[in-house]
Amino acid sequence: MKSAVVTGAGGSLGRAIALRLAQDGYGVALLDLPGDGLDESEAELKATGHPHAALPIDLRDAAALVRTIAAAEETLGPLDVLVNNAAIYPAKPFLDIWLEEYDDVVAVNQRAYFVAAQAAAGSMRERRAGSIVNIASITWHGGWERLASYVSTKGAAVALTRALARELGPEGIRVNAVSPGAFPTKAETIHENPEAYNAFVLDHQSIKRRGTPAEIASVVSFLVGQDASFVTGQTLNVDGGWVMV
Ligand SMILES: NC(=O)c1ccc[n+]([C@@H]2O[C@H](COP(=O)([O-])OP(=O)(O)OC[C@H]3O[C@@H](n4cnc5c(N)ncnc54)[C@H](O)[C@@H]3O)[C@@H](O)[C@H]2O)c1
Repeated sequence: MKSAVVTGAGGSLGRAIALRLAQDGYGVALLDLPGDGLDESEAELKATGHPHAALPIDLRDAAALVRTIAAAEETLGPLDVLVNNAAIYPAKPFLDIWLEEYDDVVAVNQRAYFVAAQAAAGSMRERRAGSIVNIASITWHGGWERLASYVSTKGAAVALTRALARELGPEGIRVNAVSPGAFPTKAETIHENPEAYNAFVLDHQSIKRRGTPAEIASVVSFLVGQDASFVTGQTLNVDGGWVMV
Protein backbone atom coordinates (compact mmCIF):
# COMPACT_ATOMS: atom_id res chain seq x y z
CA MET A 1 0.00 0.00 0.00
CA LYS A 2 1.21 3.52 -0.84
CA SER A 3 0.91 6.10 1.93
CA ALA A 4 0.13 9.81 2.08
CA VAL A 5 0.03 12.57 4.68
CA VAL A 6 -2.47 15.42 4.23
CA THR A 7 -2.21 18.40 6.58
CA GLY A 8 -5.33 20.41 7.34
CA ALA A 9 -7.31 17.28 6.51
CA GLY A 10 -10.14 18.38 8.78
CA GLY A 11 -10.86 21.35 6.50
CA SER A 12 -12.89 21.52 3.30
CA LEU A 13 -10.18 21.09 0.70
CA GLY A 14 -8.01 18.83 2.87
CA ARG A 15 -10.90 16.43 3.44
CA ALA A 16 -11.61 16.19 -0.28
CA ILE A 17 -7.91 15.58 -0.97
CA ALA A 18 -7.70 12.89 1.72
CA LEU A 19 -10.81 11.14 0.38
CA ARG A 20 -9.53 11.24 -3.17
CA LEU A 21 -6.10 9.86 -2.25
CA ALA A 22 -7.79 7.09 -0.26
CA GLN A 23 -9.85 6.23 -3.37
CA ASP A 24 -6.59 6.23 -5.34
CA GLY A 25 -5.28 3.49 -3.03
CA TYR A 26 -3.19 5.42 -0.52
CA GLY A 27 -3.32 4.83 3.20
CA VAL A 28 -3.93 8.41 4.31
CA ALA A 29 -2.80 10.11 7.52
CA LEU A 30 -5.09 13.01 8.38
CA LEU A 31 -3.28 15.77 10.27
CA ASP A 32 -5.22 18.62 11.86
CA LEU A 33 -5.98 20.27 15.16
CA PRO A 34 -8.09 18.06 17.43
CA GLY A 35 -11.78 18.84 16.97
CA ASP A 36 -14.90 18.43 14.88
CA GLY A 37 -13.25 18.91 11.50
CA LEU A 38 -10.75 16.12 12.04
CA ASP A 39 -13.42 13.87 13.59
CA GLU A 40 -15.75 14.37 10.62
CA SER A 41 -12.98 13.67 8.11
CA GLU A 42 -12.05 10.52 10.00
CA ALA A 43 -15.68 9.40 10.01
CA GLU A 44 -15.91 9.95 6.23
CA LEU A 45 -12.70 8.01 5.64
CA LYS A 46 -13.90 5.22 7.92
CA ALA A 47 -17.16 4.95 5.96
CA THR A 48 -15.16 4.29 2.78
CA GLY A 49 -13.30 1.42 4.44
CA HIS A 50 -9.92 2.71 3.25
CA PRO A 51 -6.92 2.50 5.60
CA HIS A 52 -6.27 5.80 7.35
CA ALA A 53 -5.06 7.37 10.59
CA ALA A 54 -6.33 10.57 12.20
CA LEU A 55 -3.40 12.27 13.91
CA PRO A 56 -4.28 15.37 15.93
CA ILE A 57 -1.53 17.98 15.94
CA ASP A 58 -0.84 21.68 16.23
CA LEU A 59 1.34 22.29 13.18
CA ARG A 60 2.98 25.25 14.87
CA ASP A 61 4.90 22.72 16.96
CA ALA A 62 7.74 21.63 14.65
CA ALA A 63 9.02 18.83 16.87
CA ALA A 64 5.50 17.39 17.18
CA LEU A 65 5.13 17.58 13.38
CA VAL A 66 8.30 15.54 12.83
CA ARG A 67 7.10 12.98 15.40
CA THR A 68 3.64 12.83 13.82
CA ILE A 69 5.01 12.16 10.34
CA ALA A 70 7.12 9.36 11.83
CA ALA A 71 3.97 8.00 13.52
CA ALA A 72 2.12 8.12 10.19
CA GLU A 73 4.89 6.07 8.60
CA GLU A 74 4.81 3.53 11.44
CA THR A 75 1.07 3.08 10.96
CA LEU A 76 0.71 3.26 7.19
CA GLY A 77 4.19 2.51 5.85
CA PRO A 78 6.95 4.65 4.28
CA LEU A 79 5.64 7.91 2.92
CA ASP A 80 4.99 8.25 -0.84
CA VAL A 81 3.05 11.52 -0.79
CA LEU A 82 2.88 14.67 1.33
CA VAL A 83 0.21 17.31 0.76
CA ASN A 84 0.92 20.52 2.68
CA ASN A 85 -2.56 22.02 2.79
CA ALA A 86 -3.29 23.51 6.25
CA ALA A 87 -3.53 27.28 6.49
CA ILE A 88 -4.99 30.12 8.51
CA TYR A 89 -6.18 33.32 6.88
CA PRO A 90 -6.94 36.07 9.39
CA ALA A 91 -8.19 39.12 7.51
CA LYS A 92 -7.11 42.52 8.82
CA PRO A 93 -5.78 45.81 7.49
CA PHE A 94 -1.99 45.60 7.19
CA LEU A 95 -1.32 48.32 9.76
CA ASP A 96 -3.45 46.53 12.39
CA ILE A 97 -1.71 43.14 12.26
CA TRP A 98 0.07 42.23 15.48
CA LEU A 99 3.46 40.56 15.18
CA GLU A 100 2.14 37.55 17.15
CA GLU A 101 -0.65 37.14 14.60
CA TYR A 102 1.81 37.35 11.72
CA ASP A 103 4.08 34.77 13.40
CA ASP A 104 1.14 32.39 13.74
CA VAL A 105 0.32 32.65 10.04
CA VAL A 106 3.95 32.03 9.13
CA ALA A 107 4.16 29.08 11.55
CA VAL A 108 1.14 27.29 10.05
CA ASN A 109 1.26 28.32 6.38
CA GLN A 110 4.99 28.44 5.80
CA ARG A 111 7.22 26.94 8.49
CA ALA A 112 5.09 23.78 8.84
CA TYR A 113 5.26 23.26 5.04
CA PHE A 114 9.06 23.42 5.29
CA VAL A 115 9.27 21.13 8.34
CA ALA A 116 6.85 18.54 6.93
CA ALA A 117 8.66 18.51 3.59
CA GLN A 118 11.98 17.99 5.36
CA ALA A 119 10.60 15.10 7.42
CA ALA A 120 8.94 13.50 4.39
CA ALA A 121 11.86 13.96 2.00
CA GLY A 122 14.28 12.28 4.39
CA SER A 123 12.27 9.09 4.12
CA MET A 124 11.40 9.45 0.41
CA ARG A 125 15.06 9.89 -0.48
CA GLU A 126 15.89 6.45 0.89
CA ARG A 127 13.56 4.92 -1.73
CA ARG A 128 14.40 7.54 -4.39
CA ALA A 129 10.68 8.16 -4.90
CA GLY A 130 8.01 10.45 -3.59
CA SER A 131 5.86 13.42 -4.38
CA ILE A 132 5.07 16.60 -2.46
CA VAL A 133 2.26 19.04 -3.25
CA ASN A 134 2.06 22.43 -1.55
CA ILE A 135 -1.29 24.20 -1.58
CA ALA A 136 -0.76 27.87 -2.44
CA SER A 137 -3.42 30.39 -3.53
CA ILE A 138 -4.04 32.62 -6.52
CA THR A 139 -4.03 35.58 -4.11
CA TRP A 140 -0.25 35.39 -4.41
CA HIS A 141 -0.34 36.40 -8.08
CA GLY A 142 -2.38 39.55 -7.80
CA GLY A 143 -1.98 40.54 -4.16
CA TRP A 144 -5.04 40.83 -1.96
CA GLU A 145 -6.00 43.53 0.51
CA ARG A 146 -6.44 42.72 4.25
CA LEU A 147 -4.51 39.45 3.83
CA ALA A 148 -0.87 40.58 3.76
CA SER A 149 0.45 37.85 6.07
CA TYR A 150 -1.52 35.09 4.33
CA VAL A 151 -0.63 36.24 0.82
CA SER A 152 3.08 36.44 1.63
CA THR A 153 3.08 32.85 2.98
CA LYS A 154 1.37 31.67 -0.20
CA GLY A 155 4.15 33.24 -2.26
CA ALA A 156 6.56 31.37 -0.01
CA ALA A 157 4.75 28.08 -0.75
CA VAL A 158 5.39 28.59 -4.47
CA ALA A 159 9.02 29.57 -3.86
CA LEU A 160 9.57 26.54 -1.61
CA THR A 161 8.04 24.33 -4.30
CA ARG A 162 10.54 25.57 -6.88
CA ALA A 163 13.57 25.34 -4.58
CA LEU A 164 12.71 21.82 -3.45
CA ALA A 165 11.90 20.64 -6.98
CA ARG A 166 15.45 21.60 -8.03
CA GLU A 167 17.15 20.11 -5.01
CA LEU A 168 15.09 16.94 -4.65
CA GLY A 169 14.59 16.12 -8.35
CA PRO A 170 17.95 14.29 -8.50
CA GLU A 171 16.77 12.25 -5.49
CA GLY A 172 13.67 11.05 -7.37
CA ILE A 173 11.26 13.34 -5.50
CA ARG A 174 8.83 15.61 -7.36
CA VAL A 175 7.48 18.81 -5.81
CA ASN A 176 4.58 20.81 -7.24
CA ALA A 177 2.04 23.37 -6.06
CA VAL A 178 -1.69 23.81 -6.56
CA SER A 179 -3.05 27.35 -6.44
CA PRO A 180 -6.78 27.31 -5.72
CA GLY A 181 -8.97 30.18 -6.78
CA ALA A 182 -12.01 30.97 -4.65
CA PHE A 183 -13.83 27.91 -3.34
CA PRO A 184 -17.05 28.13 -1.35
CA THR A 185 -15.55 26.81 1.92
CA LYS A 186 -15.21 28.08 5.48
CA ALA A 187 -12.45 30.36 4.18
CA GLU A 188 -15.13 32.44 2.49
CA THR A 189 -16.54 33.59 5.84
CA ILE A 190 -13.80 36.26 5.92
CA HIS A 191 -15.79 38.19 3.30
CA GLU A 192 -18.43 40.45 4.79
CA ASN A 193 -20.99 40.27 1.98
CA PRO A 194 -21.24 36.67 0.66
CA GLU A 195 -23.53 37.56 -2.24
CA ALA A 196 -21.32 40.36 -3.47
CA TYR A 197 -18.25 38.14 -3.13
CA ASN A 198 -19.94 35.35 -5.08
CA ALA A 199 -20.73 37.81 -7.89
CA PHE A 200 -17.15 39.15 -7.79
CA VAL A 201 -15.74 35.62 -8.12
CA LEU A 202 -18.01 34.66 -11.02
CA ASP A 203 -17.19 37.91 -12.77
CA HIS A 204 -13.45 37.13 -12.64
CA GLN A 205 -13.63 33.41 -13.49
CA SER A 206 -13.85 32.27 -17.11
CA ILE A 207 -15.99 29.32 -16.01
CA LYS A 208 -19.19 30.85 -14.65
CA ARG A 209 -19.86 28.55 -11.73
CA ARG A 210 -18.14 27.93 -8.39
CA GLY A 211 -15.48 25.24 -8.11
CA THR A 212 -15.83 22.25 -5.81
CA PRO A 213 -13.28 20.76 -3.37
CA ALA A 214 -13.28 17.58 -5.47
CA GLU A 215 -11.90 19.67 -8.36
CA ILE A 216 -8.86 20.56 -6.24
CA ALA A 217 -8.50 16.96 -5.08
CA SER A 218 -8.47 15.59 -8.63
CA VAL A 219 -5.60 17.90 -9.59
CA VAL A 220 -3.62 16.88 -6.49
CA SER A 221 -4.32 13.26 -7.43
CA PHE A 222 -2.94 13.89 -10.92
CA LEU A 223 0.17 15.70 -9.68
CA VAL A 224 1.17 13.04 -7.15
CA GLY A 225 0.43 10.15 -9.52
CA GLN A 226 2.27 8.42 -12.37
CA ASP A 227 0.52 10.50 -15.04
CA ALA A 228 2.57 13.48 -13.82
CA SER A 229 5.84 11.53 -13.55
CA PHE A 230 7.75 14.18 -15.60
CA VAL A 231 6.21 17.23 -13.90
CA THR A 232 8.02 19.03 -11.10
CA GLY A 233 8.49 22.59 -9.85
CA GLN A 234 5.15 23.64 -11.34
CA THR A 235 2.23 25.59 -9.90
CA LEU A 236 -1.17 24.72 -11.32
CA ASN A 237 -3.87 27.36 -10.92
CA VAL A 238 -7.21 25.66 -10.27
CA ASP A 239 -9.45 28.70 -10.41
CA GLY A 240 -11.95 28.36 -13.25
CA GLY A 241 -9.70 30.46 -15.49
CA TRP A 242 -9.19 33.53 -13.28
CA VAL A 243 -5.40 33.99 -13.25
CA MET A 244 -3.64 33.04 -16.48
CA VAL A 245 0.11 33.08 -15.86
N1 LIG B 1 -11.03 27.83 0.08
C1 LIG B 1 -10.49 28.64 -0.80
O1 LIG B 1 -11.16 29.36 -1.53
C2 LIG B 1 -8.99 28.70 -0.96
C3 LIG B 1 -8.45 29.58 -1.89
C4 LIG B 1 -7.09 29.63 -2.06
C5 LIG B 1 -6.27 28.77 -1.32
N2 LIG B 1 -6.81 27.94 -0.41
C6 LIG B 1 -5.92 27.10 0.36
O2 LIG B 1 -6.40 25.78 0.45
C7 LIG B 1 -6.00 25.20 1.68
C8 LIG B 1 -7.19 24.64 2.41
O3 LIG B 1 -8.13 25.67 2.63
P1 LIG B 1 -9.63 25.39 3.08
O4 LIG B 1 -10.49 26.28 2.31
O5 LIG B 1 -9.91 23.93 3.07
O6 LIG B 1 -9.58 25.97 4.57
P2 LIG B 1 -10.09 25.34 5.92
O7 LIG B 1 -10.02 26.42 6.94
O8 LIG B 1 -11.39 24.64 5.72
O9 LIG B 1 -8.98 24.22 6.24
C9 LIG B 1 -7.73 24.53 6.80
C10 LIG B 1 -7.43 23.49 7.86
O10 LIG B 1 -6.15 23.78 8.44
C11 LIG B 1 -6.25 23.47 9.81
N3 LIG B 1 -5.27 24.18 10.63
C12 LIG B 1 -5.18 25.53 10.84
N4 LIG B 1 -4.24 25.79 11.77
C13 LIG B 1 -3.73 24.58 12.14
C14 LIG B 1 -2.73 24.21 13.08
N5 LIG B 1 -2.08 25.11 13.85
N6 LIG B 1 -2.46 22.90 13.23
C15 LIG B 1 -3.14 21.96 12.51
N7 LIG B 1 -4.08 22.26 11.60
C16 LIG B 1 -4.37 23.57 11.43
C17 LIG B 1 -7.66 23.94 10.19
O11 LIG B 1 -8.07 23.35 11.42
C18 LIG B 1 -8.47 23.51 9.00
O12 LIG B 1 -9.06 22.24 9.15
C19 LIG B 1 -5.27 26.30 2.45
O13 LIG B 1 -3.87 26.18 2.23
C20 LIG B 1 -5.78 27.57 1.80
O14 LIG B 1 -4.87 28.63 1.91
C21 LIG B 1 -8.16 27.87 -0.20
